[in-house]
Amino acid sequence: MDRDGTQGRTPSQPRPGKPLTRGSDPAATAGAGERATAAKRPSGRPLAPATLTIFGAGGDLTSRLIVPALGHLVRVKELPDSFAVIGIDHNDGTTEQWRRTLTETVQGSRRDEGIDEDVWSWLVQRMHYMRGDFTEPDTFSRLGKLLSDQQPGQSGGGNVLFYLAVGDRFFGPIIDQLGRAGLACQSENAWRRVIIEKPFGHDFASAKALNARILKVLSEDQIYRIDHFLGKETVQNILVLRFANGIFEPLWNRDHIDHVQITAAETVGVEGRGRFYEQTGALRDMVPNHLFQLLAMIAMEPPISFNADAVRAKKTELLQAIHPIGAGDAVRGQYGAGSVLGKKVQDYRRELNVAANSATETYVALKLGVDNWRWAGVPFYLRTGKALSARTTEIAVQFRQAPYSLFRDTPVEKLPANVLTLRIQPDEGLSVSFSAKRPGAEIEIDGVEMDFAYRDYFAPIASVGYETLIYDCLIGDATLFQRADTVEAAWCAVQGLLDAWARAPAGDFPNYPAGGAGPEAADRLIARDGRAWRPLGGSHRHRNGNA
Ligand code: BG6
Repeated sequence: MDRDGTQGRTPSQPRPGKPLTRGSDPAATAGAGERATAAKRPSGRPLAPATLTIFGAGGDLTSRLIVPALGHLVRVKELPDSFAVIGIDHNDGTTEQWRRTLTETVQGSRRDEGIDEDVWSWLVQRMHYMRGDFTEPDTFSRLGKLLSDQQPGQSGGGNVLFYLAVGDRFFGPIIDQLGRAGLACQSENAWRRVIIEKPFGHDFASAKALNARILKVLSEDQIYRIDHFLGKETVQNILVLRFANGIFEPLWNRDHIDHVQITAAETVGVEGRGRFYEQTGALRDMVPNHLFQLLAMIAMEPPISFNADAVRAKKTELLQAIHPIGAGDAVRGQYGAGSVLGKKVQDYRRELNVAANSATETYVALKLGVDNWRWAGVPFYLRTGKALSARTTEIAVQFRQAPYSLFRDTPVEKLPANVLTLRIQPDEGLSVSFSAKRPGAEIEIDGVEMDFAYRDYFAPIASVGYETLIYDCLIGDATLFQRADTVEAAWCAVQGLLDAWARAPAGDFPNYPAGGAGPEAADRLIARDGRAWRPLGGSHRHRNGNA
């Protein structure tokens, strides 16, 4: 924990011992397939040949995240030699043009770290463009032919990962067409898998309907519903923290934990996505997906193994235990003009493609309870918002106060709280705050922190956060992906609130200035329980008394 390097280990020195692996299940047999025994990077084992087919080849997601992630996988030699990428989009274009555009975007972005000439030319020569309408049968018969050309030894084209990097209205139609064209059929030596981006539905009913539709074509183990938060190292580390250490789990319950705060604060506004955001809002955009994934990781019961279904079953169970959230336990906000990090920001209502009287929330704070033996009575406070004063995603677990104070002048409630803070991003790491005696003749108590920062221990890896997710699909490890029941449980937990808010639009928008900490009503929500939100930006900044 000590940033000065306990045991004489210098920062970035490799950790001793064998890397732990996800997807490892002691009970797994050879018949359980590659998923159960897959070693994580570096795997030392060549991946099976595969073709990645991207629907939405001309989109932002492809150039900003998917292709750079592939570049990083090439760099660490995690793609098979016979790997190909087929990009499909509505627009006319040629393979040459697509390659040229991607070369410019990838090289022009800061995300190209580690993608040198050799890496890029390895990848780009395996990329092919195909114009096609996502709803036309002809697109899919031409795709079938192209897939067979890519993996000639395999009838029908071998292993294929279909990536739906498209607007959610296309998810159903594309999967229907894959089914009709026979492209979703697996054989003994050819798997077919589909990655589906967010948003998966816009409420409980639509998520359920989408699941029912795609499950007519695909089996659950072919479906990889992405939540990109699970691609973050620090999010994956939550399970390691809890289940690879003996010291936390005995304290991880209502007897010792006072409450938990989960924050995902952003400084950005809607970044030109007004049209999407107007229909979505902060609750749908962040809560049933990203924030609930953090909640599930921090609060789930221990799985019996790290097998994908064992982990996902426990996460789903947790989400199913969320007590229905009422409007009285939630606050919504919308930012007005202000300044963020020294830059002027206009009203949300003046953003491109946003209605002048928009009722869409850009901030949400919630208090929720988890109805099970471990968490009964422990409040979880969640908040997320745009155009706030600091960018920070963190989980703070606050422990109960000492039962009795021995220090005459310091009553129990004045003792600094013990808080375990998991900094998801930025400044990735973890800290524990506790009380210490200030040096001097008098007994004076002060709050101090032990801090672990990733950068002090591990060399940074060039990453856009999609590398692990794509790699896991290629090896068939679904641990980090959402199962049908997980998505439905999450929507179910917020459905009452969505309905209540739709019935009664907020009358006080905008109700927080850009660059602030959110609406005052959010402070009142937590203050009525005698608690307060942590300052945005985290308390570790206060180390050595420096505010
Ligand atoms: C996306 C949301 O899913 O997550 C965005 O649609 C949000 O509105 C983003 O900004 C946050 O992700 P990250 O990784 O930048 O914290």
